[in-house]
Amino acid sequence: MRVVKQINELRQTIKQLKGNQSDTSVGFVPTMGYLHAGHASLMEAARKQTDIVVLSIFVNPLQFGPNEDFDKYPRDHERDLKLAEQAGVDIVFLPEVSEMYPRKIKTAVSVAGVTERLCGASRPGHFDGVATVVSKLFNIVKPNKVFFGMKDAQQIAVIRQMVDDLNMDITVVPCPTLREEDGLALSSRNVYLSAEERKQALVLSSSLRLAEQWIATDRLPADEVKERVIRHISEAPLGRIDYVEILTYPGLEPVESGAAPESLIVALAVKFGTTRLIDNVIVEMG
Ligand code: PAJ
Repeated sequence: MRVVKQINELRQTIKQLKGNQSDTSVGFVPTMGYLHAGHASLMEAARKQTDIVVLSIFVNPLQFGPNEDFDKYPRDHERDLKLAEQAGVDIVFLPEVSEMYPRKIKTAVSVAGVTERLCGASRPGHFDGVATVVSKLFNIVKPNKVFFGMKDAQQIAVIRQMVDDLNMDITVVPCPTLREEDGLALSSRNVYLSAEERKQALVLSSSLRLAEQWIATDRLPADEVKERVIRHISEAPLGRIDYVEILTYPGLEPVESGAAPESLIVALAVKFGTTRLIDNVIVEMG
């Protein structure tokens, strides 16, 4: 496994590994590091589906708000590299901020519509930062397939919209959310939780399970489900709801009464202390 820090070196290394074969496919997994089994599942999917697997680890300042956790976002490169190696990654791209942003960036990629609600509403500018860094990374790596987790379902909707709108010749592969045995979605931010917060954080996955049942089996209307989810989450006294939303997926539009969308997303963001956790479930209406 090669670890490279510079853009030029990364381009050369990919070229070298590709050799003269024009049909060698490149799979790409962008991350912010502090890797866990959820990230590893994306690398494994890439390993299965593509010839050369590139992983990037870059905590992107552009997607953090002024009062968010950019400075204290957890980092552990040594551990990350071991996990990447085990998952069969060929090249790890580990740039410094000065390599990605050598001067003030004056261009932004901004996706409208799907960014209006959920994390787009509660983290202004966040998805501009994501779309901008991801398109820079796509231009650097030139992948055929890119692997993203459904844990960040809105992020996938944003990347798909960007890839379609800008005619990027890239296949976006959505991968399922990996969870702890008790249901908590794996996240680099889980390390911030105290033991009691960790216990109460199970309210996210348990309310999603209930919501799925209320929608798919009991056929309750979205408003009623939303109210019940809010009530269920308030049983965890340390949790403060940022949002609970039920929208169409992948369009992320409100559910019109009487309409019959094919899939819905139930999406949650709940804060425990300063730690903001998100989770979601897609309910096929079939
Ligand atoms: P990060 O939060 O590190 O996540 C990297 C990728 O791992 C994302 O596609 C995310 O959805 C996926 N992921 C996280 N937790 C997961 C889980 N429990 N199961 C499956 N996949 C999971 O998302 C970002 O970084 C950044 O916004 C990035 C795209 C790298 C741009 O900076």
